Amino acid sequence: MKKQFLAILLSVISLGVFAQEIDVIPQPVSVIKNSGNFKLTENTNLLFNVTSSSEKDFVDLATSLIQDGAGLTLQHKNSSANPEGNILVQINNPFNSELGTEGYKLSIKNDRVFLYANTTSGLFYGMQTIWQLLTANSSNSLPCMEITDYPRFGWRGMHLDVSRHFMPVDFIYKYIDYIAMHKMNVFHWHLVDDQGWRIEIKKYPKLTEIGAFRADRENLDWNSRKTPIKGNEAKYGGFYSQEDVKAIVAYAQKKHVTVIPEIEMPAHVMSALAAYPELSCTGEYQAVPPGGVWPITHIFCAGKEETFNFLEDVLSEVMELFPSTYIHIGGDEATKTEWEKCELCQNRMKQESLKDEHELQAYFIKRIEKFLNKNGRQLIGWDEILEGGLNPSATIMSWRGSGPGTEAAKLGHDVVMTPTSHCYFDYYQGDPSLEPKAFGGKITLKKVYHYEPVPENLTTEEAKHIIGAQANIWTEQMPNGKHVEYMIMPRMTALSEVLWSTKESRDWGNFSKRMETQYQRFEKLDINYATSAFQVAATPELDSKSKAIKIALSTEAWQPEIRYTTDGTEPNANSTLYTKPFKITETTTVKAVVVKNGKPMSKALATDFYIHKAIAGELSLKYPNSKSYDSTGKFALVDGIKGSKNHADGNWKGFNGDDLVATIDLGDSKSFSSVKIGALQNVGSYIFYPTQLIVESSNDGQNFKKLGTAKNKVSVYDGATQIQDLTVKKKAKARYLRVTVKNLGLCPKGHAGEGSPAWLFVDEIVVE
Ligand code: ACM
Ligand code: ZN
Repeated sequence: MKKQFLAILLSVISLGVFAQEIDVIPQPVSVIKNSGNFKLTENTNLLFNVTSSSEKDFVDLATSLIQDGAGLTLQHKNSSANPEGNILVQINNPFNSELGTEGYKLSIKNDRVFLYANTTSGLFYGMQTIWQLLTANSSNSLPCMEITDYPRFGWRGMHLDVSRHFMPVDFIYKYIDYIAMHKMNVFHWHLVDDQGWRIEIKKYPKLTEIGAFRADRENLDWNSRKTPIKGNEAKYGGFYSQEDVKAIVAYAQKKHVTVIPEIEMPAHVMSALAAYPELSCTGEYQAVPPGGVWPITHIFCAGKEETFNFLEDVLSEVMELFPSTYIHIGGDEATKTEWEKCELCQNRMKQESLKDEHELQAYFIKRIEKFLNKNGRQLIGWDEILEGGLNPSATIMSWRGSGPGTEAAKLGHDVVMTPTSHCYFDYYQGDPSLEPKAFGGKITLKKVYHYEPVPENLTTEEAKHIIGAQANIWTEQMPNGKHVEYMIMPRMTALSEVLWSTKESRDWGNFSKRMETQYQRFEKLDINYATSAFQVAATPELDSKSKAIKIALSTEAWQPEIRYTTDGTEPNANSTLYTKPFKITETTTVKAVVVKNGKPMSKALATDFYIHKAIAGELSLKYPNSKSYDSTGKFALVDGIKGSKNHADGNWKGFNGDDLVATIDLGDSKSFSSVKIGALQNVGSYIFYPTQLIVESSNDGQNFKKLGTAKNKVSVYDGATQIQDLTVKKKAKARYLRVTVKNLGLCPKGHAGEGSPAWLFVDEIVVE
């Protein structure tokens, strides 16, 4: 009896609670491996009774995947007779509810392969699994196994901004291929933004004649590009004709990818307003900006009927081209200062009893939603569309963290999660010093892999509103498709597993092992993927008792062979092999790499560790630092590591409005001659140099005497991002130090953040 129970339990376990590992990404829901192999040969046929064009498309795709994976040309037969030696494909009848609309079953036996699904999408994903199995070995054989597989989320998306940099049609096809090969299914096409209108609209030809082209300022930093005046040459850009769009949508459809167009409103439309200035509140001409614009004030007038007529006309043509249920209308980052001054906008607010400009934006969005609904479509927009009220039928894209998505789900909206914390693939994926210029923070492969789209504080019912997630690719710093590839690969591979596989099956170690094969697939497909996950980070391990500093090396690569140097030279295959954290006793530059087949897999990250008398000192702060800029926790200011000009590099402690007041216990009474802090100024990010450094010392930790002060002399209006040391020089002997770094307080007059708290950023307190 007991034995029988155990047998049942074991079979339940193998039936899917714990899928067996195979070299496939995303990890299938259930895998039972058996012994033996099915060998593909020139005589292998694809047996499938084709009755529709979508089934015919499947045959073509399957044939090309087998050609690519095994170098063999499958013969298709419209029959299911004689399955021996063949791949037998079938659409379920009746519908199999476990598999849903995108799942499949794949049964690989010694003498045949059986693939079935409810839909051609399911069959397509099953064939992708076969392709992956073929590319995981070189023998043209498929290991015997039983796979049952279906996605966790219905919306598995990739966004692409083609406004900041126009991406040619050829690359759009590739992008769709990448989405499909990851069993993802939504291409969110960001066709409209300030820096370029990218879709042909027949009724408004100037949108592309004027709005699709800007002055070429590509040689300048994105945020330093001045907007030209009327008459300046504007030839940089491009757009998609309606014929291009139709072909792309049809191609995507074959690959089971839905294309969702995004037509931004009411902001991020300076390209449209350059073409039709009368649609803004001021009516003034402004050229298509060739670079960054912030804040975005030049937006559609919400008081003019012409604006709505125009948008309805545009959306009508868009709906003709895109069969998607959802139409994305943007809705983000509108600064409403023009609306505040516009008589027509103010009249509209009176007529419609709207209490502020947020409600005017809500009126705008709801009016567009009504139009889309009348045409049988659903509105989706960035989370700002929640402000000022919204119909529950609208779907929200939660980008400012997962908070807005959580709130929206509680209100009954469907939500697609795209938080900046995990889904912004325009952010750095490795150390900024080794990466091409990117935006802001750092989202590594591992971080993406650990993303959980469903917030914990939702009930089971509310959680059903989280319909999936997607990565956003904003292309300010990506001038071409190759660069986009670099930013998405391999992070989209991690996201694909988050969105497809069960939450329980997620296993970083196993995923990073499977990534080894995925990198080979990228090589085979000539994809410009990033090797940032092979970068080696050096972090200090500090002991406040012994004041010893040990360096630990870590990487996101699987079973890495790490080689390092401490003498400033570039590490290679012959450098010291890392086995465990090692001690340093003097100021040292650590450089390390992962070596594979005798070669470094990425550039070496250099980390300087400054050894000084306060290292690993007990430190307490009077005012806590911001949680967002915490550096490495309690030792961050005495860990020997300095920050770079990137305020989000993880080495800066940030204080929003507060002073840094630190008391440090040096352990015993020590002689020293200087106390120095490193500070950052980046006024664009509201980070200002401190006004001064004050250093005090004490022998009992109670009574402090002043040793000296050092004042900042750099202007708060100096726009260059810069680092400065403030030093108090004084020979003294003491056990305790109190270091006060004075925050500027408020952003100064004339600054964009005037009157709001200034940031203070400090990386290290150096005692020598
Ligand atoms: C966004 O990143 N502004 C949606
Ligand atoms: Zn107006």
